[in-house]
Amino acid sequence: MDPKQPTPDNSPVLEIRGMTQRFGGLKAVSGFNVSLMPNQLTGLIGPNGAGKTTVFNLSSGFYQPTEGAIFVNGQPTAGLKPHKVTSMGIARTFQNIRLWNDMTVLDNIRVAQHYWLKYGFFSSVFRTRSYKEREAQITKEAEELLDVFDLRQFADETPKNLPYGTQRKLEIARALSTHPKLLMLDEPAAGLNSADVLELIRLIRWIHDNFDVSIWMIEHHMDVVMELCSQIKVIDFGETIAEGTPDEVRTHPAVITAYLGDDTI
Ligand SMILES: Nc1ncnc2c1ncn2[C@@H]1O[C@H](COP(=O)(O)OP(=O)(O)OP(=O)(O)O)[C@@H](O)[C@H]1O
Ligand SMILES: [Mg+2]
Repeated sequence: MDPKQPTPDNSPVLEIRGMTQRFGGLKAVSGFNVSLMPNQLTGLIGPNGAGKTTVFNLSSGFYQPTEGAIFVNGQPTAGLKPHKVTSMGIARTFQNIRLWNDMTVLDNIRVAQHYWLKYGFFSSVFRTRSYKEREAQITKEAEELLDVFDLRQFADETPKNLPYGTQRKLEIARALSTHPKLLMLDEPAAGLNSADVLELIRLIRWIHDNFDVSIWMIEHHMDVVMELCSQIKVIDFGETIAEGTPDEVRTHPAVITAYLGDDTI
């Protein structure tokens, strides 16, 4: 694919072929395949230790797979560092919230945008006019994003002082500030109370309706995944055991067996 050409709307934002990850003797992910199209809402589920977070770590460049190939908008990511994969259009949140607690809420978003908008060494050291103009633009965009997410009143706060649900929301807003084509959410409902879970469902649906972004989510709260995702993939011990619509997955014998004794499904 010619990198200068825009990605046609019908090509995947993320394509993974035959991805395997070994940690010593453990095969955490085995022969994983996925093709995520623009503007989809897709789920990745499986019991504890199934390999879900490892799939996200591989997809976002935190690990390099032992085997297999990953393409973002048709471009291979082999050997690329996470910030480079981010600049190709992938953004993520973490199972355990990772916000920068020594910075304000506003700066959490501003710094994320810096990863995306690269400056040349010269312009950043000598603070050229174009650097200052871009800085002003970054601040404006960050403030707009806080407005859109109803977080502007917390702009000067430290993230750790915010309620847990608000921190989750900020982490999602920060991920979106890098203009991703794919937003990966690793257990966004973890640790939320039931009112916050309902708000999260509304938030994710609203993002899906209003941003030009595909969403791929890992979640243990089955009601969240079943309600939001049109396609779900299920893994267990690193192997894909089922995929399909929520109804197909819910009634799949291998899925029922994998979750046996777990009443969340
Ligand atoms: N960096 C690592 N080094 C060694 N083993 C790892 C590493 N990361 C993950 N693992 C192992 O790989 C397996 C899959 O872990 P992973 O975190 O991907 O599971 P998960 O499906 O996200 O689980 P959970 O639902 O509990 O978050 C586990 O056995 C885990 O201990
Ligand atoms: Mg995990």
